[in-house]
Amino acid sequence: CGIVGIVGKSAREIVLNGLSKLEYRGYDSAGIYLNDLAGKEYLTKTAGRIEDLKNKMTPEEQGMVGIGHTRWATHGKPTEANAHPQFDETERFYLVHNGVIENYQDIKKQYLKDVSFKSDTDTEVIVQLISKFAREKNEDAFTALKQALQLIKGSYALLLIDNQNPDHIFIAKNKSPLMLGLGNGFNVIASDALSVLDQTKTFVDLQDGEVGDITQNGYQLETLAGQKVEHQPYELNIDENAASKGTYEFYMLKEICEQPSVLRHLDQYYLDQNGDPKVDAKIINALSKADRLYIFAAGTSYHAGLIGKQLFEHLTKIPTEVGFASEAGYHFPMMSKHPFFIFLSQSGETADSRVVLQQAIKRGIPSLTLTNVPNSTLAREANYAMSLEAGPEIAVASTKAYTAQVAVQAIVAKALGEKIGIKDAADFELKKNFALAAEGIEQVISSQEKIERLAQKNIIPSRNAFYIGRGIDYPVALEAALKLKEVSYIQTEGFAAAELKHGTISLIEKGTPVIALINDSVTSDLMRGNIQEVIARGATVITIARKSLAKPADDIVLPEVNYYLSPLVSVVAAQLFAYYAAKDKGLDVDKPRNLAKSVTVE
Ligand code: G6P
Repeated sequence: CGIVGIVGKSAREIVLNGLSKLEYRGYDSAGIYLNDLAGKEYLTKTAGRIEDLKNKMTPEEQGMVGIGHTRWATHGKPTEANAHPQFDETERFYLVHNGVIENYQDIKKQYLKDVSFKSDTDTEVIVQLISKFAREKNEDAFTALKQALQLIKGSYALLLIDNQNPDHIFIAKNKSPLMLGLGNGFNVIASDALSVLDQTKTFVDLQDGEVGDITQNGYQLETLAGQKVEHQPYELNIDENAASKGTYEFYMLKEICEQPSVLRHLDQYYLDQNGDPKVDAKIINALSKADRLYIFAAGTSYHAGLIGKQLFEHLTKIPTEVGFASEAGYHFPMMSKHPFFIFLSQSGETADSRVVLQQAIKRGIPSLTLTNVPNSTLAREANYAMSLEAGPEIAVASTKAYTAQVAVQAIVAKALGEKIGIKDAADFELKKNFALAAEGIEQVISSQEKIERLAQKNIIPSRNAFYIGRGIDYPVALEAALKLKEVSYIQTEGFAAAELKHGTISLIEKGTPVIALINDSVTSDLMRGNIQEVIARGATVITIARKSLAKPADDIVLPEVNYYLSPLVSVVAAQLFAYYAAKDKGLDVDKPRNLAKSVTVE
């Protein structure tokens, strides 16, 4: 979900524009509350997107203070009633909220028995509770908010307006991101700085358990217990234009096409003239003490971690495990004597990963976060952080952040391997291979028309599909399948090619598309055998093979890149298959149904 609020400036456009930029965080419903500070207030909500919200609003809906929300449903369907802002039964308090209130049922039973609820959301419970405390104990809004939060368990980033005192926005944060942007004669609050960069570049990050009272000319932050806190404001140096779509029809294609520049930039940023990694010595020292590495992540980042495992084991000879953060958080894996945790996260905000990081902190396990958002929660809370340098990624389906994660893991692995004297690390030619991969990606992109034709002919007509691969191609098959299914809604599975015959081959029918990845010389003959097995059962096979292993009839031939870095190139063909399958089905490529880019609930 995304939140934007502003006080002290004409609010409507700023809130709506901010929400549009946050829409990638959730887009199943939206709403806005405006107050003109002269007695008029407006609330508009929709079970649609920000565009629908705009269309629904009348011209007179204006305000000098406003809060808005774009939702990714957790509790309650995406209906208008469940959209935020939520309000209390006296229609005095208006609240937007990201996160999940775990004990909302208990609070309802214990404190709010007589209240008639209008929504199925956990959020309404907060606003009704605030209202109750304000009325019954005659408390002001800020005090009532703090009292309510003392009882509430869960994650929240929230903004509250009291229409009896409307020139304030009251805010609170716990486990969901929230930042305050400082302006001249106004202040803004948002769940992601990107959404308000056109208003200010000066920000203050709130910490967990903090609340604030924000007005046009000032702000006051304190802990829930009422102790004043101060944080040094900082300047965020992000180019707003980096987050615009330019001439591309969709962000996803723009971001796919940016991958060669991302690799070239990573070369500049992390490698010296000789191709040796420039990584903070403190990070490499800490890593060199580890007897086992544990990579935790979710979604696409998890798939990048599977490539990372192979890179770390090859270049450092340190056993490396990869796990879903969501599983490890509550079923903590057995630890070696000197573990080291690596978190991969595009957004740096994934709640599932944060749970594992909290465990690591509690147990004194050192940690490194690789993220695309340097100031994010996972970056701040880990012992060390490195930036993925991919530039803002807006499309919900991750592309360039994945390739950056693979590349940065290769950089760290080489630096670590060299530090502990591993020959394979010294021999690993990163600079040359990044350049080859960048060129290779360009070649794949230049064959996009062919990819589109293949997608139209062989993939779009099917209701399911498979990606198969062996060795390094197996984790790529998992990512490739995720990409295709999440944007095109064609059910796709990624398989270790030889495993298909142990059960899943029963799903192959006449015309089922099977896309085969062939980058591993050790198993390429076996791969060809696996391809014959599915052809014999009616499958339509698309082959993606590296040049040295390719046959004349192969569909996509990839240029030669070091085996361990071949995913940088092969995944791009898969990203384009996904893109064109979705686009040519007429789907909203950048915002697939039911998803959100950054998931800050567990
Ligand atoms: C969401 C996104 C995925 C992403 C995953 C992990 O589910 O839809 O695309 O891979 O979160 O996100 P992270 O920001 O931690 O990489």
